[in-house]
Amino acid sequence: MDLQAIIDDIALSLAERRGEGKVADYIPELAKVDPNQFGIALTTVDGQVFTAGDAATPFSIQSVSKVFMLTLALGKAGEGIWKRVGREPSGSAFNSIVQLEQEHGIPRNPFINAGAIVVCDMVLAGHKPKEAIGEVLRFVRYLADDETISIDRAVAKSETQTGFRNHALANFMRSFGNLHHEVDHVLGVYFHQCAIAMTCRQLSRAGLFLAAHGHDPISGYSVVSPKRARRINALMLTCGHYDGSGDFAFHVGLPGKSGVGGGILAIAPGKASIAVWSPGLNKVGNSALGSVALEMLAARTGWSVF
Ligand code: DON
Repeated sequence: MDLQAIIDDIALSLAERRGEGKVADYIPELAKVDPNQFGIALTTVDGQVFTAGDAATPFSIQSVSKVFMLTLALGKAGEGIWKRVGREPSGSAFNSIVQLEQEHGIPRNPFINAGAIVVCDMVLAGHKPKEAIGEVLRFVRYLADDETISIDRAVAKSETQTGFRNHALANFMRSFGNLHHEVDHVLGVYFHQCAIAMTCRQLSRAGLFLAAHGHDPISGYSVVSPKRARRINALMLTCGHYDGSGDFAFHVGLPGKSGVGGGILAIAPGKASIAVWSPGLNKVGNSALGSVALEMLAARTGWSVF
């Protein structure tokens, strides 16, 4: 299979549709991003890398970071984390608060904002926010095997100033006793993890362990056990696109995690880790062209898990 030809073809056929969707503007700094960009990168389990389009342009990974944070929290606290966060799709928007009251401050899953904020609280684990942010950044750099990855401070600041909904979610959960640290400290970590900037190439490299049973085939390191990798993929498939998760499974059929920066990390287990990026979002807040590109890729490669 000529993967380079396939992704070149996808990038070419989507060229006319660049700019589709709506760039997230509730984080003012993200509204400044040029919507006419599209990038795709694939890292295969045998260590080959294929890229097309704007695959070397850094973008704000936003909620894609929740996959790396979940991996860190599981490493620190093990399966005990499931006492404080669920594993069911929410069927609600990523920033919804409605289920939290009915479900006693326990978020449905680690990928909706409320769940990711609880995961942040677990990663903080008594440390200072600065130390936890450093740990997250080191982890992502280690996974991507790239020391140049950094946090976009302007994006973090922009979200700190406008993240009223996340403050509400965090305070609400704290009132139920499901947040153990100061709300400002937890959100400080959360806004910085979301503001990590990565290219498609770096992101596809960072996700490789999930395509290779928890083992990084390039560095030789074992990141998580095969069972844990399988479970993270299961959560990405069922919850990674919020109330668009069913549709993503229907059209693409791969575990995936989206972010409002327009990035999506998709995992083809046993085959490859794929990152796509295009800033315009569809109605449920997932990259419009990114989703189409992954649907095309899954159709051409036969990589759907179904
Ligand atoms: O908390 C927020 O609203 C953003 N930092 C992240 C949301 C996000 O990426 C949702 N993804 N599609």
